[in-house]
Amino acid sequence: MFETHTIVELRKKLSVARAENKRVGFVPTMGYFHEGHLTLMREAKKRADVVVVSIFVNPTQFGPNEDLEKYPVDLKRDRAMAESVGVDILFTPSAGEIYPEGYATSVNVEGIADVLCGRSRPGHFSGVATVVAKLLNIVEPDVAVFGEKDWQQLAVVRRIAADLNIDSEILGVPTVREADGLAMSSRNTYLSAGERKAALVLAKSLRIAQEMVDKNIRETAEVERAMRDVIEAESLVEIEYLEFCDPQSLAGVAEIESDTLIAIAARVGKTRLIDNAVVRPG
Ligand code: PAJ
Repeated sequence: MFETHTIVELRKKLSVARAENKRVGFVPTMGYFHEGHLTLMREAKKRADVVVVSIFVNPTQFGPNEDLEKYPVDLKRDRAMAESVGVDILFTPSAGEIYPEGYATSVNVEGIADVLCGRSRPGHFSGVATVVAKLLNIVEPDVAVFGEKDWQQLAVVRRIAADLNIDSEILGVPTVREADGLAMSSRNTYLSAGERKAALVLAKSLRIAQEMVDKNIRETAEVERAMRDVIEAESLVEIEYLEFCDPQSLAGVAEIESDTLIAIAARVGKTRLIDNAVVRPG
């Protein structure tokens, strides 16, 4: 596996691959890999000859009181894990490489970036959109792979690719979960044993929602009540939002008449977790 900190060196390597007509796949990450990240890398590997993975804990997508300073880092472990799934190029830029002196441009997405996590994390999606646009411009992949775990992020990335004429295919991959249902996340390492157990109510509430839809319950208010009852039974978990939306536009829905995204954000102790599912009627 080739590793570089610089854009110049990365581009040199990629121009060689392209001259050999190789397809380039790309998985942007903030590191501290788990099976979710590795699944994205394997999917990229299936669809491309050369797979690039970036590790960059992007400062612009963290709010002033968020976890930038304590975000988990283990580059040695990440390197070995990326190597084990056949990643070809690891790109590990410094903050100065991505945001050089005088940097003054950002990407803002309206509408879909203002709801859900956009409401509770002002500026977050601007940071995400900016860094993803930059990374896609640097790598120019044939296919870029993102997780449905961050459904709204995936929607924002699809929007910037369409709006800014970024010619990469954007591929979404279903959420990878622990055996007991907890959605994998680098932030799960913050949880104590008790919090880890309490956090299971998020996935549980989403399973209950699908069961209710299977029983022809269509009112989101009724499903929401049942989900809140399950989650609120855990005193360690506090809901930030629980919303029913159109999976593409993220507009709120009152009746489950077609595929509906249920998106949850919650605090488990001090840790903020998100989870979601698309429920399907009939
Ligand atoms: P990070 O949280 O490291 O996630 C990198 C990619 O892995 C994202 O596309 C995310 O959706 C995906 N992912 C995380 N957990 C997953 C899971 N349990 N199952 C499937 N996919 C999962 O998301 C980011 O980094 C950043 O915002 C980034 C896009 C790199 C921009 O800085």
